[in-house]
Amino acid sequence: MRSYRIPAIPSSEITPEETYVNRRQFIRAAAAMGIGMAANHALPSVVRAQDRWPQGKKGPYDTDEKVSTFQEITTYNNFYEFGTDKADPAKNSGAFKPKPWTVRVDGEVKKPASYALEDLLKGQTIEDRIYRFRCVEGWSMVIPWRGFQLSTLIKRLEPTSKAKYVAFETVMRPAEMIGQRRPYLTWPYVEGLRMDEAMHPLTLMVTGLYGKELPNQNGAPLRLITPWKYGFKGIKSIVKIRFVEKEPPTTWNIAAPDEYGFYSNVNPDVDHPRWSQKSERRIGEFLKRKTLPFNGYADQVAHLYAGMDLKRNY
Ligand code: MTE
Repeated sequence: MRSYRIPAIPSSEITPEETYVNRRQFIRAAAAMGIGMAANHALPSVVRAQDRWPQGKKGPYDTDEKVSTFQEITTYNNFYEFGTDKADPAKNSGAFKPKPWTVRVDGEVKKPASYALEDLLKGQTIEDRIYRFRCVEGWSMVIPWRGFQLSTLIKRLEPTSKAKYVAFETVMRPAEMIGQRRPYLTWPYVEGLRMDEAMHPLTLMVTGLYGKELPNQNGAPLRLITPWKYGFKGIKSIVKIRFVEKEPPTTWNIAAPDEYGFYSNVNPDVDHPRWSQKSERRIGEFLKRKTLPFNGYADQVAHLYAGMDLKRNY
């Protein structure tokens, strides 16, 4: 990945939106509290994302840190299929068509097939979860994702006993994805997880954020999120899920094997060859903060790597 750069959008220009504002809900709540609201302009422009939790409760997987704004999350992106600048994905993904969408499932699995996305989603419990997100380049955000646990999908697909890893592939559509017409990376983008990582309850297949459908620039209509790993594990616009015996190739490892390994766990003790990983800059903030082992999820995931040398297996 190119080295760390200052956010393309100065924080002063970012509207503190946090608005997938459920206006109707707010109006109803306000009415219940007897607060009169004369006109539209009386509506607040800021509603904290936490307000969307039933009774204001935080779910078991949520961080209570301040969420990044919708604007930040959807205009400062890495999605090289649409260009290499942070602003490119939002600018260049307007013509991308995430519907209809089919996902090919194959390899070591009892139910290989091409599934319409609606069929994959059937019966899944869709949840909103507020996760920390740490990019390997040194910036971070807090993102209210919407999605379902990959584990429930895997159980339904019934991998065979030979399946040790899950491999994912992004759609190949150079006509709609201008970045794919250039060899920035080897296309299509590919990623993978060890089976126990894929089955971990924190691992989400994401279909939305801020309670809305996933914007194209964030990987519509289906992307992966493993919050204890660097952001590049979160492969976007997935069209293939393959169950395999051997560790599958991954795009950034192919591009720079000495810089990006298969595991990609957030680890402040393993520097990137070109920069330190000890701290991070939360988008919209000035001062850096310390990066936590496994991005703060060590209690939940460290056991997956017991006995492994994480300096070698980065
Ligand atoms: N997936 C695809 N297909 N192509 C990409 O370029 N970039 C990765 C990851 N998934 C990327 C991708 C990187 S480097 C990061 S940091 C995250 O997506 C960024 O996700 P976001 O733009 O939703 O924050």
